[in-house]
Amino acid sequence: MSLALFDGALAVVTGAGGGFGRATALALAERGATVIAADIDRAAAERTVVLTKALGAVGAAYEVDVADAAAMEHFAAAVRSDHRVPDIVVNNAGIAVSGPLLDTGVDDWERILGVNLWGVIHGSRLFAKQMVERGEALPNKPDKPNYGGHIVNIASAAAFAPSRALPAYCTTKAAVLMLSECLRGELAGRRIGVTAVCPGFSATGIMRHGTIVGVDAAGQERMRARADRLLRLRNYPPEKVAERIVHAIAKNKAVVPVNAEAHVLHALSRIAPGAMRAIARIPAPLG
Ligand SMILES: NC(=O)c1ccc[n+]([C@@H]2O[C@H](COP(=O)([O-])OP(=O)(O)OC[C@H]3O[C@@H](n4cnc5c(N)ncnc54)[C@H](O)[C@@H]3O)[C@@H](O)[C@H]2O)c1
Repeated sequence: MSLALFDGALAVVTGAGGGFGRATALALAERGATVIAADIDRAAAERTVVLTKALGAVGAAYEVDVADAAAMEHFAAAVRSDHRVPDIVVNNAGIAVSGPLLDTGVDDWERILGVNLWGVIHGSRLFAKQMVERGEALPNKPDKPNYGGHIVNIASAAAFAPSRALPAYCTTKAAVLMLSECLRGELAGRRIGVTAVCPGFSATGIMRHGTIVGVDAAGQERMRARADRLLRLRNYPPEKVAERIVHAIAKNKAVVPVNAEAHVLHALSRIAPGAMRAIARIPAPLG
């Protein structure tokens, strides 16, 4: 992909303080975009901006909780007034809650629905409205079907893979996939692209920061460490996911499974739903 691909573009990335969000911020900055790095952890977002500046890009850090409707309204308004309407928005911030549905309490559901689903809803509707009002364009791309802008929502292979180990997580990611498909249909006439990116396992901090229900504190620590080790063993770096995100924007892709297990699960969900139901019985974590 050309290093001048996003010259002059303004990109917003949520959850940009680590994992896929930081890698995506850097991949976009490397191709000429100005990156707004948003995260609930201000210091982490600021570190990302320092890294984008080392690449010669301009950027700014914002502290925002994507689950907080008022904070997201304020953030979207601040992006427009401090900068302008963004050309690219990557709704990436997400958390993991794993463990059986029968042990998943209302607070656990509210937390994961807040970040993984409401965060994507807020980011999509607030910035899509701005893009529609602007009615213009990714700089220098008048021939592109996503000339009016592009929204990327980070779902997961869990969106098409039911799992007894991750009922709350899978539910939020399936919803993000459907939301993205609906929004893509709605915005196509405005020349605004929407992509759902569905990665399999990748070595980020998600399991370290995650919640495991149905076990005591010691069990939770042990299982977090084990899940984190498994992600590292998979050895699929977030930078590769970021490259797929860049490619998805450039090519205006609708749904992008990332890495081998995501492709296999995506294909099986279409041709062999019975096999997916068998896989759903395996008590293993899926990010
Ligand atoms: N790592 C994987 O294997 C994997 C696989 C598929 C999908 N995903 C998805 O990728 C996305 C990024 O996850 P990651 O793996 O990079 O995780 P990560 O934990 O490494 O990074 C997530 C970032 O989001 C931030 N964040 C968390 N809650 C927030 C909130 N309420 N508001 C704003 N920022 C918040 C964190 O501070 C952190 O910087 C998530 O949506 C996740 O569900 C991850």
